[in-house]
Amino acid sequence: MEIVIKETYEEMSQLAAQLIAEIIRRKPRAVIGLATGSTPLGTYRELIRIHKDEGLDFSQVVSFNLDEYVGLPNDNEQSYHYFMWENLFKHINIVPANVHIPDGVAAELKEACDNYEIEIDDHGGIDVQLLGIGRNGHIAFNEPGSSLGSRTKIKTLTEKTRQDNARFFDSIDEVPKYCVTMGIGTILEARKLVLLANGENKAEAIQAALEGPITVSVPASAVQFHPDVTVIMDKAAASKLTRQYHTEPSHLNRQ
Ligand code: F6R
Repeated sequence: MEIVIKETYEEMSQLAAQLIAEIIRRKPRAVIGLATGSTPLGTYRELIRIHKDEGLDFSQVVSFNLDEYVGLPNDNEQSYHYFMWENLFKHINIVPANVHIPDGVAAELKEACDNYEIEIDDHGGIDVQLLGIGRNGHIAFNEPGSSLGSRTKIKTLTEKTRQDNARFFDSIDEVPKYCVTMGIGTILEARKLVLLANGENKAEAIQAALEGPITVSVPASAVQFHPDVTVIMDKAAASKLTRQYHTEPSHLNRQ
């Protein structure tokens, strides 16, 4: 596992975008796994900039998002569909048919979850999966207690996560109680993981995930199983780590 600590959120975001851009340049048909929430916003801004200023081409890129709320139509401003189009897709040249986001309003949710797994497989698997982390150590919407081998499924959101996400809604009552999320098993099959964290409120979860035991109580600790993980964070998120880490990923050091 490669752990990189940057001074600021902007530097963290630039590095994450650079890693993803490199993968797309090497493999124009790359399959990229994307996350929502506050954490990746800077990365998306930077990817948009690289697309506009440096011509990064998304025309063959395929994307799979981690999760979606159950019951919010795609045009609801709080849905992850809306979030992704607003914050990334509408600013780049990705082909809409190549965008995949779990369907939280499918008539047959369970079947839609199974089909999501099949679609990922049909595209040859995910080349790079971007991840954030919840204060309770969740990845995607795999809350504490989620099986480390789980696949795309319907989950109940914890109160903590609903409270954290209430900032995007008018009131906590509007935060959906259920979601569809890739499972931890699904995430671990991506060829590369890039886990991002910023801010002091993530420091405890990051310490537990990276330096603690692998446990269902901290779903993000499952990334320790993965052979190719880059964790990029700002100083605040890294403030509770006890070991010494780098400020650049090793492949950039070698350049
Ligand atoms: C969203 C997702 C979640 C978030 C996590 C952190 O697609 O996968 O696990 O990454 O809840 O959210 P923020 O970035 O808003 O702190």
